[in-house]
Amino acid sequence: MKISSRVQNIAESMTLALTARAKLMKKQGLDVVGFGAGEPDFDTPEHIKAVAIEDIRNGVTKYTPTGGTPELKEAICNKFKRDNGLAYEPKQILVSPGAKFSLFAAILTLCNEGDEVIIPSPYWLTYPEQVKAAGGKPVFIQTGVESGFKVTPEQLKKALTPRTALFILNNPSNPTGAVYSKEELEPLANVLMQTDISIISDEIYESLTYDGVRFVSFPSLRPALKERTIIVNGVSKTYSMTGWRIGYAAGPAHIIAAMNRLQDHSTSNPTSFTQRASATAILGDQSCVEKMRHAFDERRIYMVGRLNAIPGVRCATPQGAFYVFPDVSAFYGKKLSGKEIKGSLDLANVLLEEHKVAVVPGLPFGDDRCVRLSYALSMQEITKGLDRIEAALKSMNI
Ligand SMILES: Cc1ncc(COP(=O)(O)O)c(C=O)c1O
Repeated sequence: MKISSRVQNIAESMTLALTARAKLMKKQGLDVVGFGAGEPDFDTPEHIKAVAIEDIRNGVTKYTPTGGTPELKEAICNKFKRDNGLAYEPKQILVSPGAKFSLFAAILTLCNEGDEVIIPSPYWLTYPEQVKAAGGKPVFIQTGVESGFKVTPEQLKKALTPRTALFILNNPSNPTGAVYSKEELEPLANVLMQTDISIISDEIYESLTYDGVRFVSFPSLRPALKERTIIVNGVSKTYSMTGWRIGYAAGPAHIIAAMNRLQDHSTSNPTSFTQRASATAILGDQSCVEKMRHAFDERRIYMVGRLNAIPGVRCATPQGAFYVFPDVSAFYGKKLSGKEIKGSLDLANVLLEEHKVAVVPGLPFGDDRCVRLSYALSMQEITKGLDRIEAALKSMNI
């Protein structure tokens, strides 16, 4: 059998692979600290679980409409009004099995063979693979610690060509934790308004911002932008519901209808008995969100402080999501535990194999100078893991 060239070009998800490897080592009895996780470590709140349990008992176990139940779509419309000041109707909403599929459906719907798709780098490693699977060409805009990992309007203007079809904005960002302010989004909107390209605004980490930073949904800046933007969001990160697989997209009705047709013939509906529970999460008491955000915030401050105290590590303070993305390139070209460290892949490998701590290399996120550490693990585990990283890196005597 031959693998199609389209799928042959798709890279393995290094975050999923690394998390699986760390989990396997743990299962084998090894005391591994995993900073790889892309999901909150908290349990899903009880009041949400109770609704799903009730639905399973009541036989809500059959197909639902492809794009989600009317009740859940209504709840999502209410959320957009409440949190983002955006008015959407249910026909402008598509619920999918996870925001990852919402993104894929949007990219497949908006990107033709050979189209260019602009992606700020570092990026969530799934974007370029989905773009390639859609036959598009990822075009990266490189950002770094200097600019707070944010794209400038000049950079965006320079990346545009007659073949540009789409711009993907991830705010707050995975892996950098960067959050764009309204003042930083405005000039980007100005550049985009002079083009006719489509925009995907991935806002999955919306609820996780720190230091009093206020999240601004990109299309809320002006009505004309909303007509060209697909917002992607979901319940995974906000309510610690990653396994429930409920993500959603909002945008112009004809684009949502096209995405719905694609979903009709690919996944069909998202899981039936997680939908009313997701509506409960979205509409119910939001204090669980604040509780989790508060815990993340404490860990974030601790991690940034500890990492920056290691000579050679440069860690920007992220203002969103639950990742830190320190620059560890000062250690490249040196040896760790007898092995030469040429880049982020080597460092991640040796840290896992020899020091029992899992970090994700920055290379597949578009920046080999960095590694990504999630702080979705307990303070006790964070402390233990950072002790190991500190000891390992200090042993390199840079
Ligand atoms: C930036 C970003 N977008 C989207 C997703 C997808 O979330 P899910 O498919 O769990 O809803 C993730 C998950 O890691 C993410 O980091």
